[in-house]
Amino acid sequence: MPNQNDTTQKPETTGARLPTVLVLGGTGRTGALIAKGLADRGLRARTASRSGADVKFDWDDVSTYAPALDGVDRVYLVTPVMRTKFIHQVAEFLNLAEASGIRHVTYLSAYGSDRSPEEVDIRAVELELGQRSAFTHSILRPAWVMQNFSDQHLPLIGDAFMVPTGGKNEAFVDAQDIAAVAVETLVNPDAHAGAQYAPTGPQALTVAEVAEIVSGVIGRRVVHTDIDPNAWINGAVDAGFVPADYAVMLHWLTGTIISGNGARPNGDVEKVTGRPATSFRDFAERHAAAWALQPVA
Ligand SMILES: NC(=O)c1ccc[n+]([C@@H]2O[C@H](COP(=O)([O-])OP(=O)(O)OC[C@H]3O[C@@H](n4cnc5c(N)ncnc54)[C@H](OP(=O)(O)O)[C@@H]3O)[C@@H](O)[C@H]2O)c1
Repeated sequence: MPNQNDTTQKPETTGARLPTVLVLGGTGRTGALIAKGLADRGLRARTASRSGADVKFDWDDVSTYAPALDGVDRVYLVTPVMRTKFIHQVAEFLNLAEASGIRHVTYLSAYGSDRSPEEVDIRAVELELGQRSAFTHSILRPAWVMQNFSDQHLPLIGDAFMVPTGGKNEAFVDAQDIAAVAVETLVNPDAHAGAQYAPTGPQALTVAEVAEIVSGVIGRRVVHTDIDPNAWINGAVDAGFVPADYAVMLHWLTGTIISGNGARPNGDVEKVTGRPATSFRDFAERHAAAWALQPVA
């Protein structure tokens, strides 16, 4: 494996020209960071999403697939968000990608995807990639993302992070670390062909411990309110934050932590990037402004 600490290392090139990477979800939490990381490493990154990206790409509009893929060598694959059923759209996209000659796909899956519910297509996409030999692939299965606490996913409600965990823990990971791992796979796909990485943070933390760290960083006491999972999920559906069929995904995600099977720290981030995974404290210091802006009830 090449020395992945060496950011001056030349990317694998395609003939005489620099490889072009199509970054789906290119305006999202990982995609935007990956596009920047690829450009820093000398590749061409083409961001794609429904609005605000380099090219328009809409999973629900198949006519946007081929133009986005034109001239592309590698793809960062983010499937439709807040959905459970997407395997047919992804297979259609991969057919076109194959026909247009792409050589590698890095897929953003989720931690424990091999135990995901049948109704959710996360694992089906992994299996679909495994059946295709026209291009190589790498799979990223990150833990819960630290950014959930600093954005609209798990915002402070008054002085509390409200989420069902049964007091159990999870090795929350910084989206920057997921992006750094993805960049390595896209810069040197041959070195990561067939690889599966599960980016995690360096510690498994309860949300009460997360709240303690945030309290220390922002100088205001915040706590964890451990809520009944059904009440939390029904509330999210009733408020229109997630579609009704996504409840199965939320049950799986929270149930995994509640049963004590949350992500455990591993060395994947350091193994691939050469840098240790970001601690929650460092993440919280970087994002302190997000909580400072959230009003106290
Ligand atoms: N949150 C977590 O803790 C966690 C943990 C592990 C894995 N994941 C996985 O991470 C993925 C999300 O990645 P992310 O956090 O980097 O992105 P994100 O911040 O959730 O942003 C979603 C991106 O996808 C685009 N998008 C949404 N719907 C689309 C559609 N129908 N067609 C085309 N593009 C669409 C969005 O742009 P537009 O809205 O402009 O289209 C945006 O660029 C999900 O698959 C999730 O399961 C999340």
